[in-house]
Amino acid sequence: MSGAPIEIEVGLGARCYPIKIGSGLLEDAAYWCDAVRGRHVLIVSDEHVAPLHAARVQEALLGCGVDAPIETLSAGEAHKNLDAAARVFDALADLGATRDACVIALGGGAIGDIAGFAAACWMRGIDFIQMPTTLLAMVDASVGGKTGVDHAAGKNLIGAFHQPRAVIADLDTLATLPEREFIAGFAEVIKTACIGDADFFAWLESRADALLARDAAALTHAIATCCRCKAGIVMRDERETGERALLNFGHSFGHAIEAEAGYGALLHGEAVAIGMLLAARLSVRLGMSNDGDTQRLRALLRAFGLPAGCPPHLEADALLARMRLDKKNRADARRLILWRGIGRAEIVAGVEDAEVLAALRPEPTEAGGG
Ligand code: GLY
Repeated sequence: MSGAPIEIEVGLGARCYPIKIGSGLLEDAAYWCDAVRGRHVLIVSDEHVAPLHAARVQEALLGCGVDAPIETLSAGEAHKNLDAAARVFDALADLGATRDACVIALGGGAIGDIAGFAAACWMRGIDFIQMPTTLLAMVDASVGGKTGVDHAAGKNLIGAFHQPRAVIADLDTLATLPEREFIAGFAEVIKTACIGDADFFAWLESRADALLARDAAALTHAIATCCRCKAGIVMRDERETGERALLNFGHSFGHAIEAEAGYGALLHGEAVAIGMLLAARLSVRLGMSNDGDTQRLRALLRAFGLPAGCPPHLEADALLARMRLDKKNRADARRLILWRGIGRAEIVAGVEDAEVLAALRPEPTEAGGG
């Protein structure tokens, strides 16, 4: 992968920050170390990513005169909890981290969420830099300042909005990403197209093979398109009082599926893929969209090797109960992100339980779970 890095600015007044997308960025600290203000830097990573990439970041920082320890956490969503955040607090305490300290989140979405949350809490908020190493984190999780950990009662129930100082997406890290995780990342790419970009959806239909073959130019276009879309939404609605909720297309269903299956059984992207299809199916039930767009979505998910049906052992009633805790709900009404067709997502309040249950129940053609 080569070519000049792409830079996208997330403009939030004094807290504006760059997303830098390119190759060879982790070792090129001169390109990003202006985002580090003080002398205390902690690299937070996980047991899979740290052996592959952490030493390069550490050496790059040494070249800038900063000696940064590495805190290596257990990998996976199953470990995204308060215990993991406490490990980061302990490491910051050992470092003697002051108000100008910086946490570098080197890993996938779970590491970004934990490290960002710890940075949001330490001394009521210190800097952090996102260095996403998965496709899913590059196109969604690392951008926009959502941080947090899971609770037994639901995903991301404990958290804070805390914007990073920079997002450094080094495309070289995708070369070592396991195939299943790589594929799961395309769920968030497809989501971006679903919510507001029908042309991008058609482009994905035509470029699935190149993307799955990890073609550099195709991947760069897909990642930059998603980051530009997300940056625009975050700039207009940082705290999710409106439009930002559209980014959760498929997530109300997906979070319920992920929790009910047991964190770690399904990857987040896999659960979101199923969730998007359920949202599309519910939209048809409510007369908002036609079945043709649902079938195009199903075909695109399948083209990317993503699941396109709910695992049959998950009970519709149990999933509905999980959805009642969704953060998008208001006290008086369930709020769901549905669509009027490809590229036209909408926030819909007050959908009846019976309609949601009907969408959650497998169709006869999905007996095997898709
Ligand atoms: N992942 C959805 C958001 O950042 O708002």
